[in-house]
Amino acid sequence: MKNNYLAEDAEILNVKKECTNIYSVWLKSENIAYNSRPGQFIEVKVTKEDELAPVLRRPFAIADVKGDKFQIIFEVIGRGTKMLKDRIKQEKFLPIIGPLGNGFFLESPKPKLLIAGGIGIAPLKSLIDYFINKNEDITLLWGNRDKAQFFDLKYYTDKDMMYYLSTDNGSLGFEGNVLEMMLSNLKLKNLNPLSEYEIFICGPNVMMKAITNYLEAEKIDSQVSLETNMACGFGVCQGCAVARKKEEGFYLVCKDGPVFYSSKVEIPN
Ligand SMILES: Cc1cc2nc3c(=O)[nH]c(=O)nc-3n(C[C@H](O)[C@H](O)[C@H](O)COP(=O)(O)OP(=O)(O)OC[C@H]3O[C@@H](n4cnc5c(N)ncnc54)[C@H](O)[C@@H]3O)c2cc1C
Ligand code: FES
Repeated sequence: MKNNYLAEDAEILNVKKECTNIYSVWLKSENIAYNSRPGQFIEVKVTKEDELAPVLRRPFAIADVKGDKFQIIFEVIGRGTKMLKDRIKQEKFLPIIGPLGNGFFLESPKPKLLIAGGIGIAPLKSLIDYFINKNEDITLLWGNRDKAQFFDLKYYTDKDMMYYLSTDNGSLGFEGNVLEMMLSNLKLKNLNPLSEYEIFICGPNVMMKAITNYLEAEKIDSQVSLETNMACGFGVCQGCAVARKKEEGFYLVCKDGPVFYSSKVEIPN
């Protein structure tokens, strides 16, 4: 599919600290709002104009779109996201490139099972309104280490969908990881047999590996949204290569992904 990506300075409309180290930002961009698909991402230049540091661009999922604006949600984990946090507080515009990559495959008629770990909720959020507008049956499983890491919960709980939450320490919802919660809900018959769902997963690689290993043993494929280190964002630097599964060669996450069927790609460690 043709990508209409553009470089532009997007106006920062709203910044919110969602919880410790997690921020959401609404930006104005007609190009992103009207041309992006669920699962696509943008690259953000996180260095300020007057900074001599090398140009640092960082990829973030397009989490939500309303009218001519869109949202990103990011966790501050290192140098680039710390710079971004400072930049959104001090400036009126953010240099971005997007929409980039291929989004989720949306055509399956099956009910949808969305499985998020931590900030992996960001790309999956873009699917919720899309499927609700089509009257599709959605179930969300979202896991975090602690209840303090959940944010904007009302957004999800107010939607016409089933949702189940887990925390590793039992401070909210099911006590255990999101895979254990999924298996518990299967046993309780809150979930149908997993082969009946189109499954979408995003979270830490270790979580995506554990869930896809389980599903593949049951001969069930699923869509995973991968997060690798990236530089250019559109297929030039080869910095985002991941190995193909059961065949030679690599995919580029920025260009061929970031969404893949788990049967096609080795999720990196
Ligand atoms: C297509 C795509 C979409 C993304 N969407 C989002 C999003 O919506 N919200 C969000 O918070 N993040 C998202 N990410 C991840 C985000 O881009 C990284 O967290 C960010 O680039 C880290 O930059 P940094 O300079 O702060 O960290 P760095 O200083 O580069 O790294 C800090 C530490 O984190 C590790 N690290 C860096 N990037 C990643 C990564 N992608 N996965 C695991 N470990 C990593 C490094 O190895 C290092 O140990 C996405 C990544 C991709 C590829
Ligand atoms: S980030 Fe440069 S090729 Fe993917």
